[in-house]
Amino acid sequence: MTPAPDTTIASGLSRRRLLFGAGFVAAVAALGTPEAEAAERTASAAANGRAPHADPPVDGLHLQFGADAGTEMVVSWHTRTPVQRARVLLGDTHGRFERTVGATTRSYVDEQSGTRVYTHHAHLTRLRARAGYLYAAVHEGAAPQFGEFRTGPHGRARVTFTSFGDQGTPTVGKQASQGGKATWVNDNLGSLAAGDTTGGVELVAPMFHLFNGDLCYANLSTDRVRTWWDFWANSTRSARNRPWMPSPGDHENELGNGTIGYAAYQAYFSVPPSAGQTALTRGLWYSFKIGGVRVISIANGDICDRDGGGSDERGYSKGAQHAWLEAQLRAARADHGIDWIVVCMHQVAISAASDFNGADLEERQEWMPLLDRYAVDLVIGGGTSAPAYGFAAFEVDPGRPGHDTIMSVTYYNVTEVGGGLEVADTFTLRRPRSDTRSRPDSPTGAERGGMPCGLTR
Ligand SMILES: [Fe+2]
Repeated sequence: MTPAPDTTIASGLSRRRLLFGAGFVAAVAALGTPEAEAAERTASAAANGRAPHADPPVDGLHLQFGADAGTEMVVSWHTRTPVQRARVLLGDTHGRFERTVGATTRSYVDEQSGTRVYTHHAHLTRLRARAGYLYAAVHEGAAPQFGEFRTGPHGRARVTFTSFGDQGTPTVGKQASQGGKATWVNDNLGSLAAGDTTGGVELVAPMFHLFNGDLCYANLSTDRVRTWWDFWANSTRSARNRPWMPSPGDHENELGNGTIGYAAYQAYFSVPPSAGQTALTRGLWYSFKIGGVRVISIANGDICDRDGGGSDERGYSKGAQHAWLEAQLRAARADHGIDWIVVCMHQVAISAASDFNGADLEERQEWMPLLDRYAVDLVIGGGTSAPAYGFAAFEVDPGRPGHDTIMSVTYYNVTEVGGGLEVADTFTLRRPRSDTRSRPDSPTGAERGGMPCGLTR
């Protein structure tokens, strides 16, 4: 996948600013809604030189696909105090905001600080596939925050995505002594590169981003809630315009935040529900379909010994995740509309690390035979706790009936502040389209499931 040229990005921003500047205000004012009154109050207060509002702002705006990427999207944000009338105004690309969708609020208490965090999730349904939308997230007293997104395609089509794990934040949050002088340092395994990788994803502008766990290492920081805030402040510039679809890593396990430590992760994200989940495991594993691709995100803390958070978590699903995963794989391989199965997870099965976090034996024993049996095409992990200085980009070419479908993979190093990219490696994966099974001489079901995809450099 080639990054979009600067000219395209520049003209796109100009267009969007025009739409936001003229379209949204005009549309809201014309509707005569309370949002119009709030916008007027905000403008008036700003003009008088005082703080526009005392209510919490819309922080950390971000997106997640629903189970069907063509028709569902969830818009999420968070606050430190309760709010009223959290909602999303949904508009088309002409700036006409014609639907209002109320948000559901969740909360969790960070055990370390005693802080309660409120997260708000508006589930948008009945969207048109392969369509662009503008939206505004707002709650009582807050200035609206804007984003835009495109829904995924239905049926075989070009699909693009990026992926990395282990990001951290680019911020400094802890005092330390260096050379006898007091200074501030990053306190969550992050680095300045964490800012640049977000910029790099935006330069590529994929349909979605897969985040393979260890998002911000809040469990290590001196202030876990602030670290989550920093993480979202860094990622919202991308995640408000394209879904960042996560898998939980060992550092999402925060001691004291729920029985197995994932209460913060489960509050910030709203991903498709999955069979077999309980209040304890809600949101930890899920899948969605986009074009001819089935994406499955799994939670390796359920089976791995590696535990970055201190909560005793292994075995928390009591086999429910394994059963769900096998059912997902079986159904995907039986679906003639799905060519590619992509599995996203954190701890890796194979690693080059020699004296730090590396590969997990439990994964090779529990997951790999299952993934092999159903010939999963691509498994993406994170897992080494080394800050990401690059990411992979994937582009699926659906091919023609009776022929192969091709996935092009590009690994980028992020080489410049803000996200300048350098191609480090490229290769392609190729496999027969699953609709070739309708031909009498083609392998069927499990037979085809045993065929590995080919790799070309
Ligand atoms: Fe990890």
